[in-house]
Amino acid sequence: MKVAVLGAAGGIGQALALLLKLQLPAGSELSLYDIAPVTPGVAKDVSHIPTAVKAQGFAGEDPSPALQGADIVLISAGVARKPGMDRSDLFNINAGIVRNLIEKVAQVCPKACVGIITNPVNTTVAIAAEVLKKAGVYDKRKLFGVTTLDTLRSETFVAELKGLNVDKVNVPVIGGHSGVTILPLLSQVHYAQWNDEEIAPLTKRIQNAGTEVVEAKAGGGSATLSMAQAAARFCTSLVKALNGETVVECTYVEGDGRYARFFAQPVRLGKEGVEALLPLGPLSQFEQEALEAMLPTLRADIELGEKFVNP
Ligand code: NAD
Ligand code: LMR
Repeated sequence: MKVAVLGAAGGIGQALALLLKLQLPAGSELSLYDIAPVTPGVAKDVSHIPTAVKAQGFAGEDPSPALQGADIVLISAGVARKPGMDRSDLFNINAGIVRNLIEKVAQVCPKACVGIITNPVNTTVAIAAEVLKKAGVYDKRKLFGVTTLDTLRSETFVAELKGLNVDKVNVPVIGGHSGVTILPLLSQVHYAQWNDEEIAPLTKRIQNAGTEVVEAKAGGGSATLSMAQAAARFCTSLVKALNGETVVECTYVEGDGRYARFFAQPVRLGKEGVEALLPLGPLSQFEQEALEAMLPTLRADIELGEKFVNP
C-alpha cells in the first residue's frame, strides 16, 4: 500500500507521518507532500526510524510526484482555527486548497481512496466529490471525510465519566464534523447506564471538543496529535479493508441521501472502499430530535461546497 499525506509538514501532517511510519504494515510506502520546503526533511527524519515502511518527501507547488501510485491519499493541507473562529471561517482559504489538490488526485491517482481532514469537513468533502465528478472519476465508495476524532473523543470522555475500560468503549458518532452536526449515539454504548442529566452536557462536550483544544492552545492552532492518531486509525482500518479484511468505522460518506447527501455513519469497509452503509441502530428520543435538528445546517454546509465547484 502506498499512502500519500498532503499537508505533511503541518501540525497534523508531521505527527501523522510518524504514526504511519510506526503503524502501517511492513512493505508499505509513505509519500509526504506539502508546499513547505521542510517536507523532504520530514520524510528523511522519519525514514531513520527502523520500521519496514519507506518514506519519501516532496515539496513545491505540484503534488503530482507524491501522488504517483497512491492507494490512499490523506489531505490535511490548509489553515486551522484560532480562538473565536468557527470551522466555517476556514472555508475561504481551504476550499481552494482542497479543490486544487483533488484536481491533481483526479489526474494522477483517480482510483485512490481519499480521506479529507481539512476543515470545514462537511463542505470540503462535497468540494472533493464535485471536482472528482467533473473529472469523470468520482467513485463514492472511495471518498471519506475523516470524522474519527469525534469517535476518539467520545470513547475517551465516556470511559472517564463512567469509569469504563477505554479499550472496550465503542461510540458510534453520526452526522457531520462541526457543532450540532456531531452526534454521538451515547444510548448505544454497552455497559453504560445514563441518567437524563448526563446525556445533554456530554453530547455538548463532544460537539465542542475541537473548540476546547483551540482555546487551550490559545492561538497556536487546533487539535493535531489526537487528530493524527484519529487519521492513523482511519488509515490503518482502510489499509486492512483494502487488503481484504472486513472493518467497520464511522466516517462521512455519500450514502443513500436519507438525511443529507453526505452523512457520517458506521460503514463496513472492504476491498473497494465503502462496502456497505450500516444501519444507525435504535436512537433515543434525544438523539432522534438532535438528528432532525442538525439536518438544515448539514445540508447547507454541503450545498456551499457543491456551489463552490459549480457556481
Ligand atoms: P497546520 O497549519 O499546522 O498545517 C497545515 C499544512 O498545510 C501546512 O504545513 C501548510 O504548509 C500546508 N499547506 C497549505 N496549503 C497547502 C497546499 N496547497 N498544498 C499542500 N500543503 C499545503 O494545520 P493543522 O493543524 O495540521 O490542520 C490542518 C487542517 O486540518 C485544518 O484545516 C484543520 O482545521 C483540520 N483539522 C481537521 C480535523 C478533523 O477532525 N477532520 C481535526 C483537526 C484539524
Ligand atoms: C477538531 O475537531 O479538533 C478539528 O475539527 C479542528 C477544529 O477546528 O476544531
